[in-house]
Amino acid sequence: MTKIGIITGSTRDVRVNLQVAEWVENFANNRGTDAVFEIIDIKESGLGRFNEAIPPLMANKKYATEAHNAWSKKIDEFDGFIFVTPEYNKNIPSGLKDHLDYLGKEWHHKAAAIVSYGSTLGIAASLALRTTLANLKVATVEPQGAFSLFNDFENMTTFKPLEVHKPRFGELIDDVVAWSTALKSVR
Ligand SMILES: Cc1cc2nc3c(=O)[nH]c(=O)nc-3n(C[C@H](O)[C@H](O)[C@H](O)COP(=O)(O)O)c2cc1C
Repeated sequence: MTKIGIITGSTRDVRVNLQVAEWVENFANNRGTDAVFEIIDIKESGLGRFNEAIPPLMANKKYATEAHNAWSKKIDEFDGFIFVTPEYNKNIPSGLKDHLDYLGKEWHHKAAAIVSYGSTLGIAASLALRTTLANLKVATVEPQGAFSLFNDFENMTTFKPLEVHKPRFGELIDDVVAWSTALKSVR
């Protein structure tokens, strides 16, 4: 069974991020694919700011701390990912970037979809994330979720996406499942 991790992007105590991730999980589960979906919350990983002596690719999945090894094992479990990221100053939050930088081979030859949000839909953040994921040998599907803080949230705090997003979102789920399944043969 193909396993897709839904990775949170914000670690703020007041984040709206988890609401969006939970909506994605619910939408994916109701889509009726033969994949399983699980939220991976970076706020719970126990990893602080990146501070490793050896680049993760060279460490070859043997890391110095328990939290780092647990993060490695967690990401190893999945065939693909849906990244749910806000935009901070035209980029992804530094906490999400650290969680990507912490690993190397664990990401390789997997697929991902990107769901972004912000006052300008998080488009700049999603483009930056596509570049980082390419460097980690993660293939990103074209359909993308891009939600507006003004139109898809009530009072900029409660996630209530417009109906118009749903057909494209269905395509996003279908593509990330198909690519994640296909790339198993590469690994
Ligand atoms: C430091 C900071 C920078 C931000 N920069 C942007 C930005 O460049 N583009 C944008 O669309 N929204 C920007 N925003 C708005 C955030 O996307 C919005 O606050 C969102 O709720 C943050 O997600 P979170 O609540 O899950 O952390 C910024 C917010 C913060 C706190």
